[in-house]
Amino acid sequence: MQSFKRHRRLRQNSAIRRMVRENHVSPADFIYPIFAVEGSGIKEEVPSMPGVFHYSLDRLHEEVDQVAELGIGSIILFGVPEEKDACGSSAYAEDGIVQQAIRQVKERHPDLYVMADTCLCQFTDHGHCGVVENGEIVNDESLRILAQTAVSQAKAGADMIAPSNMMDGFVTAFRQALDEAGFVHVPILSYAIKYASAFYGPFRDAAHSSPQFGDRRTYQMDPANAREALREASSDVDEGADMLMVKPGLAYMDIIRQVRDRFDLPVAAYNVSGEYAMVKAAAERGWIDERGVVLEMLTGMKRAGADLILTYHAKDAARWLAEDV
Ligand code: PBG
Repeated sequence: MQSFKRHRRLRQNSAIRRMVRENHVSPADFIYPIFAVEGSGIKEEVPSMPGVFHYSLDRLHEEVDQVAELGIGSIILFGVPEEKDACGSSAYAEDGIVQQAIRQVKERHPDLYVMADTCLCQFTDHGHCGVVENGEIVNDESLRILAQTAVSQAKAGADMIAPSNMMDGFVTAFRQALDEAGFVHVPILSYAIKYASAFYGPFRDAAHSSPQFGDRRTYQMDPANAREALREASSDVDEGADMLMVKPGLAYMDIIRQVRDRFDLPVAAYNVSGEYAMVKAAAERGWIDERGVVLEMLTGMKRAGADLILTYHAKDAARWLAEDV
């Protein structure tokens, strides 16, 4: 008489493993971050993010054409402006780098879904995500400028607005401003849960957006907190967010799961720059198998409850997934 269960019956070969697989990753789940810079003729690799490039507008299509061809769900555009000032005025300029990039991409690929990241840190000379007064990041004044930025991005043709600034009330402010400007149909993907994370290091190199004094801990969340994440998500849901984001991904899988269980909006996880850089560095040394690790990480995020994943691995992963079919 047998006294144990034979779980291996359903693992015997790839056919049965495929049949009982619970979670799947697909290029349609991916949101690929792209960096647009001012100038011309530029395609420059970000040193801490091998495979990720800065593109000037005249070369941006090289990247976007590939993304469209690979069937990746969406892109999110980040802009690196030449001019910065105290209130980040190039963030909401009609001919700002992000606005121009959106217009250009939508013209060439009308069916590619384009998101705009809405923040000020790349555009302010102090590198904070809001307006600074007497050494403090002031919430409500920042909302005014951020909402104006969101509207300018929608005007340029952004399909979705993704605010990453972590000011309180940004969903209310953005929704109201977008509606008043006639963009009732433009959804908001709230970076509701964004931790003050050391994993953003390479992104700040890429976006030239490091804070010039202090840090972001008065607006981004303490990595030690989980209940606070649910409060953040809950207020953004009440304020009318259409989707929620958890950021970073890898060290916050528990948060992705809790948000998934608690709310019924689509959930996105941001597989951030530091997570990408660690994989790339280890793979370069031959210490890990890049393909295996990346697909396992992305599957893990889906299993944790993410519907969508923002990831710099999107193009590679899309190619690997196509090979697997
Ligand atoms: C801007 C912003 C950051 C990231 C996305 N939008 C950096 C930050 O908050 O300092 C990080 C993304 C990444 O690390 O890949 N607020």
